[in-house]
Amino acid sequence: MTFMIKVPATTANIGAGFDSIGIALNLYLTLKVTEADRLEFVLLSDQLEGLPTDESNFIYQIAKRVAERYQVDILPPCRIEMTSEIPFARGLGSSATAIVAGIELANQLLQLNLTADEKVLLATEIEGHPDNVAPAVLGGCVIGHYDQTLETIRVPIDDLSFVTIIPDFELKTSDAREILPKQFTHSESVRASSVANVSVAAICQQNWPVLGKLMKKDLFHQPYRKALIPHYTQIEDTLADNVYGLYLSGAGPTMIALASQEQVNKHFDHWKEAFPQLDWHVLEAVNQGV
Ligand code: HSE
Repeated sequence: MTFMIKVPATTANIGAGFDSIGIALNLYLTLKVTEADRLEFVLLSDQLEGLPTDESNFIYQIAKRVAERYQVDILPPCRIEMTSEIPFARGLGSSATAIVAGIELANQLLQLNLTADEKVLLATEIEGHPDNVAPAVLGGCVIGHYDQTLETIRVPIDDLSFVTIIPDFELKTSDAREILPKQFTHSESVRASSVANVSVAAICQQNWPVLGKLMKKDLFHQPYRKALIPHYTQIEDTLADNVYGLYLSGAGPTMIALASQEQVNKHFDHWKEAFPQLDWHVLEAVNQGV
């Protein structure tokens, strides 16, 4: 028995969709799983170096948790060859992909026949919010609400470029959440939610100019987190006239500009030259999840 598990990276928040909007992108965590006498992780990408290769591997721990949930004591031993294109702790959903990979590993090894909705719910219960895990399972853009029950709406995304700008440092999500305000007044909440509401409508209509404008007006997290990202404002100013808008991907530090293919073709080299210390990529949304 051999099977593959391929989980896409994700970008969360997309401006004001804090903890509730995410989009799957074309960078992948891939597992090749083969029946074996004992459990072994084989780490095939440089950036995976140092991760546990035994039962303490996070993906295996998630798979065990799922097995216990379905009253199974033992996962069949296997050799898991692992490759990843997703940088760690940069705001591209690397831990969410590991959670989703662990769920899928248990699903396949134990033939649980989980539905996509069951996988999203399990992953959201583990992660605490659906914005990264839901698009990793379902693909496309997923707008989700989780509070005891989970509601998700999936919107396919086409013809949009994600200019992805990755700084050379890791940012822990817990640190980036720590600096957020604990409370908003009623009027602040009304303003912040109106930005989020119109952002969702813009996504549903693929109205990228409106989404781009509103990404800048987010009040939930970016005003506080920008301070942790050197160059954020300079990059925003440099790209402003030639993209729909810039946002902080997830908890950061990666920044993503939404642009048309034409805008990218015309300006990408210039942007890279202006900020050579950052790692620039052009990604696209993928409408297929795990
Ligand atoms: N919505 C989350 C945040 C994404 O911004 O903190 C990272 O888990």
